[in-house]
Amino acid sequence: MSEIAREAGALLLRYLHRVAIQYKGEADLVTEADRASEALIRERIRALWPAHDIMGEEQGLVDTGSEYRWYVDPLDGTTNFAHGYPVFCVSMALEHKGKRIAGVVFDPTRNELFAAEKGSGAFLNGQPIHVSKTAKLSESLVATGFPSHKRHKNPNIHFYHQITLRTHGVRRAGSAALDLCYVACGRFDGFWEFNLNPWDTAAGVLLVEEAGGKVSDFSDGPFQIESRETMASNGLLHPALLHEFQEIFQGRGLEPIPDPRQHKR
Ligand code: IPD
Ligand code: CA
Ligand code: CA
Repeated sequence: MSEIAREAGALLLRYLHRVAIQYKGEADLVTEADRASEALIRERIRALWPAHDIMGEEQGLVDTGSEYRWYVDPLDGTTNFAHGYPVFCVSMALEHKGKRIAGVVFDPTRNELFAAEKGSGAFLNGQPIHVSKTAKLSESLVATGFPSHKRHKNPNIHFYHQITLRTHGVRRAGSAALDLCYVACGRFDGFWEFNLNPWDTAAGVLLVEEAGGKVSDFSDGPFQIESRETMASNGLLHPALLHEFQEIFQGRGLEPIPDPRQHKR
């Protein structure tokens, strides 16, 4: 898996700064690099494990009923990539009988390969990684993301605002798979996002779990691959984050967003 992810990452770098932007939706970008990377990954998987099913962002899934299923995001962070902002990666995960058993995320611009196997821990370039020990939300650095698909329907700006005021800050770098890996290695203490897809989360979720963290939905229910809610943390901050989410969903204790007209005056 690592070799395939590295090969796909090298392919992405060859396309970087050289691709035209195409649109799947209003602000939903895709490039030739997304497609070429997925084609390469599919070819490699098929050559090694011809009977496995593959769900990839660009080509979808043909479900043959195999016990093994891959989740492939051939380029996570397409908008960044298309603008030359160097935060993007290749994400691959393998499921057996519905259970995540292996995940790899490769960031070619930093040459960072995150890898995890169920029950064997999580690694960054071969070195074991662990989630952070931050125990107070007020001392944490967390991350989130905003999908480009159906963005008018996304309520996340409220959560972004409220959680910003309760932490050291909220980063929004544009690659959910890397955000999850950064929770796994302790650069972030937590991460959440609405409406992610299986290929965004499958590898990163295993990374967080194998690094000692926790992943759930926004009500502390188990994370499911088709879930529209992803909440990851170092575990210690999980109750506090979930509590804040419940409060925000109920509209309790909200800090008002300053009125821009007031500022102008
Ligand atoms: C996107 C990125 C982004 C997240 C979006 C995803 P893509 O994936 O992970 O960080 O906020 O929800 O769709 O489209 O670049 O593969
Ligand atoms: Ca993605
Ligand atoms: Ca993608």
